Amino acid sequence: MVRLDLVAALLAATTLAGAVAPNPPAIVPGAYIIEYAEDQDTHAFVAQELGGKASLRKDLRFKLFKGASVQFTDTKNAEQTAAEVAKLPQVKKVYPVRRYPVPRHVVHSTGHAAAESVAKRQADSDTFSTHLMTQVNKFRDAGITGKGIKIAVIDTGTDYLHPALGGCFGPGCLVSYGTDLVGDDFTGENTPKPDPDPLDTCNGHGTHVAGIIAAQTNNPYGIVGAAADVTLGSYRVFGCSGDVGNDILIAAYNMAYEDGSDIITASIGGSSGWSEDPWAAVVSRIVESGVPCTVSAGNDGDAGVFFASTAADGRHVTAIASVDNSVTPALLTRASYTVNGSAASSFGYAAGEPAAWNNISLPLWAVSFNTTDPANGCDPYPDSTPDLSGHIVLVRRGTCTFVQKATNAAAKGAKYVIFYNNVVGASAVSAQVDGIEATAMVTADQGEAWISALQAGSEVVVSMPDPATAGVFLEYFNDTATAGFLSDYTSWGPTFEVEVKPQFATPGGSVLSTFPRALGSYAVLSGTSMACPLAAAVYALLMDARGTKDPRTLENLLSSTAHPNLFRLSGKSLPYLAPVPQQGAGLIQAWDAAQATTLLSVSSLSFNDTDNFNPVQNFSLSNTGSKPVTYTLSNVGAATAYTFANDTTIVPASFPNELTGDFATLAIEPSTFTLPAGHRQVIQVTAAAPKGVDTKRLPVYSGYVAINGSDGSALSLPYLGVAGSLHSAVVLDAGNTFLSRASDNNNTPVRADTTFLLPPPGFANDTAYQNTTQQPKLVVSLTMGSALVRVDVVPTGNCSTAARNATVVFGTRTLGQPDGLPSWWNPRGQLEYSWDGKLDDGSYAPPGAYKLAVKALRIFGDAKDGSEYDAAETVQFRIKYAPAPAKLARSRSKSRRGR
Ligand SMILES: *[C@@H]1O[C@H](CO)[C@@H](O)[C@H](O)[C@H]1NC(C)=O
Ligand SMILES: *[C@@H]1O[C@H](CO)[C@@H](O)[C@H](O)[C@H]1NC(C)=O
Ligand SMILES: *[C@@H]1O[C@H](CO)[C@@H](O)[C@H](O)[C@H]1NC(C)=O
Ligand SMILES: *[C@@H]1O[C@H](CO)[C@@H](O)[C@H](O)[C@H]1NC(C)=O
Ligand SMILES: *[C@@H]1O[C@H](CO)[C@@H](O)[C@H](O)[C@H]1NC(C)=O
Ligand SMILES: *[C@@H]1O[C@H](CO)[C@@H](O)[C@H](O)[C@H]1NC(C)=O
Ligand SMILES: *[C@@H]1O[C@H](CO)[C@@H](O)[C@H](O)[C@H]1NC(C)=O
Ligand SMILES: *[C@@H]1O[C@H](CO)[C@@H](O)[C@H](O)[C@H]1NC(C)=O
Repeated sequence: MVRLDLVAALLAATTLAGAVAPNPPAIVPGAYIIEYAEDQDTHAFVAQELGGKASLRKDLRFKLFKGASVQFTDTKNAEQTAAEVAKLPQVKKVYPVRRYPVPRHVVHSTGHAAAESVAKRQADSDTFSTHLMTQVNKFRDAGITGKGIKIAVIDTGTDYLHPALGGCFGPGCLVSYGTDLVGDDFTGENTPKPDPDPLDTCNGHGTHVAGIIAAQTNNPYGIVGAAADVTLGSYRVFGCSGDVGNDILIAAYNMAYEDGSDIITASIGGSSGWSEDPWAAVVSRIVESGVPCTVSAGNDGDAGVFFASTAADGRHVTAIASVDNSVTPALLTRASYTVNGSAASSFGYAAGEPAAWNNISLPLWAVSFNTTDPANGCDPYPDSTPDLSGHIVLVRRGTCTFVQKATNAAAKGAKYVIFYNNVVGASAVSAQVDGIEATAMVTADQGEAWISALQAGSEVVVSMPDPATAGVFLEYFNDTATAGFLSDYTSWGPTFEVEVKPQFATPGGSVLSTFPRALGSYAVLSGTSMACPLAAAVYALLMDARGTKDPRTLENLLSSTAHPNLFRLSGKSLPYLAPVPQQGAGLIQAWDAAQATTLLSVSSLSFNDTDNFNPVQNFSLSNTGSKPVTYTLSNVGAATAYTFANDTTIVPASFPNELTGDFATLAIEPSTFTLPAGHRQVIQVTAAAPKGVDTKRLPVYSGYVAINGSDGSALSLPYLGVAGSLHSAVVLDAGNTFLSRASDNNNTPVRADTTFLLPPPGFANDTAYQNTTQQPKLVVSLTMGSALVRVDVVPTGNCSTAARNATVVFGTRTLGQPDGLPSWWNPRGQLEYSWDGKLDDGSYAPPGAYKLAVKALRIFGDAKDGSEYDAAETVQFRIKYAPAPAKLARSRSKSRRGR
């Protein structure tokens, strides 16, 4: 499954978790998006062309996209394949519906009604840290607040009844338009129940995003929206839990566009890497029609390069990366402790899950007094450990999971665990372990102070009031280790076709904003989800300041004025700039973008890979100021990022992948010139890939054309390229492409000649068969993206009747493909298909012996040429069908006749 999450980062016990490419988004069986060649009546189309074969999921007829999504009915005779539909003259293209899981977003900490703080900040001066980092504070100081600009937010809805979000919905309110496309109970698998009210009461992600854009200052924590006078549109596409299909995302984008939004933003994404992905393609069209669209770059930084996420990867879609906040805010619950029965001192904690701290007062116990031990509490406690049921166990964060640490404590009877942090701040963490009733986290300083007291033989008694009624206060911690540097979790581009992604970065790591009243009213979250809305707000400020809404002009301005930063790893800066595929143009400097009088015609350059090397490129520079300016252009290299760890591996290295200081050289012509006011100069750049790099490991080189003006302007234009051949990269990991069982979550390969007793044709989803039948599951491992994966059902018994019907495609005898295949625009990662015997023409493969032959098209490969595919085959297996129950079969055929 893809994580098309709401892109808030997950909190890991370890800073750099072992990276595994998340699975691609699941395809909804039998559901397709049909794009029409020309506008037509959807009900008539479905009735006439698909009559009885499909039901309408969603009519998708908009100005920029005309089509529908349909669900093919699941019985044998009613089936018509999407391939056949695609051949109809009225149809331009057919795409599978993909499902994107709801955000597994981590809340570092939340507030609640008992907020203690009062606004420290005067409404007329903006000192919000993320605004200082991006110059957004200067707009507020200049009275530019995005008044009249409409920003549509596609997300989990908005708690517009929150006082800091306007308190109402509709004309005249902060959240003035939008809708709920799905309803609370929508899971991505059931039928959406749209209603006009996009209230977010149960999720929180969309409410946090809305506050980043436009929170009003009537809140106790000094939260300031970046563009507080915009009008928000709220398009709710997630229920309280579960997934969303891309057909609903496409509908939401088109509605937001037709409702007159000036900017559309979505902090949603799933691994892809292809700008042709249908959702990304629709967002591209909206941008081309004049509405800037910002989409979070994704939180899969640990997957390494080439992990762009959809719809951020669409052409002209602005993909937003994340840097860490300069301060780490934490909303802490107040509690107290005593040492040797002294007077009580107060401290703050972030309540975890579970959090049944109902006035617990117990002495602390620590498994070790070593406050630098990275793996504190990861091993089972020694036999000498006392019964811990009368203690609160104090453990340092790090190395193993919180669950592991809590499990070791529970094994000695503990019911309560307090983690102390190994990085700045304190975060809510989950450790749902049998026997554990409550967990919490305190700061590293607090934990270390307690440890030294315990070491001195003192008794430390901690009193934890009920968190539901205890006071909550906001504390800021200085983040000296990572402030302003790229967040480790931010996803890397470029796309598989070497389009530059991401575009630029804003702070997304540890951001304080609004949260639904029911969930605490305020919260600190991390992710590119939190970066993206700040960029959307900056677009509104620029529209306000510059009087243009043109997406290209604004993107070019933001890109040229952004500040690239050094690469940072484990708190240390390396002596080179972070690669463009990680940071794009760098950290937005919004005021510089608003003031710039030197305009570039592009926001980035891609030199492509060596097979498609496009070394000579032009862009223009305009002096829109009132005086002549002398410009000096130069090349500043950023770190080159290797895709592969060595010459032999075919799997891209996880982060931190190897970086080198080998830079491309650029010939820039002219590299120095004086441009009178109102004039334009075309500049030609000729690139040479870095020398001495190992091209087999697909190094992605990048850097910036630095442009310094005699007027003090300092601009930079990001570029990237691949020194090697993407076409030569193996896309299919044949050794990890195999057959398993649908019921086996561990994907254990089956032995050759395994027989699968399948449900009777048409009964794959009938629970009556779930215990007595077994479907094969094909596991396909893609090392790189593949635009087209086909799977042939190969009959292996020479004289079987099935064999006589087989055709030959690319030299492989085939009965056809399993229903739902081929699969287009696949990200790297593991694809899984369970097969009930149904083929892509709607018929069922006869009982017999088969192999599945997988073919994955190489990047830039010609889909019509069989030699352009990487191939793999499963072992031989056999299928049989369970007999259909006579009664059910009769009633089904009756209902068919009745239609
Ligand atoms: C604490 O643990 C670290 C890492 O295991 C070790 O290097 C260090 O020597 C330990 N300190 C003490 C005082 O035992
Ligand atoms: C608390 O009492 C213990 C044992 O009596 C003693 O070792 C320790 O020094 C005391 N701590 C303080 C802070 O006085
Ligand atoms: C955080 O940094 C700011 C600016 O450098 C400084 O004024 C403040 O005292 C620091 N706070 C803490 C708790 O170190
Ligand atoms: C790279 O070249 C390929 C093949 O010509 C093309 O499809 C792709 O769009 C190019 N990428 C860029 C960023 O121009
Ligand atoms: C190449 O890298 C892979 C992945 O890190 C590793 O498993 C393999 O051992 C390496 N091979 C060589 C020859 O170093
Ligand atoms: C049918 O089963 C598949 C998996 O076996 C599941 O993904 C799908 O949602 C089911 N369809 C229906 C209509 O229940
Ligand atoms: C299948 O097995 C599960 C678990 O043993 C049981 O709960 C369920 O009732 C069985 N279903 C059928 C249709 O027999
Ligand atoms: C062979 O194909 C024909 C026509 O498509 C079909 O009617 C017949 O059932 C197929 N036979 C087998 C054994 O699949």
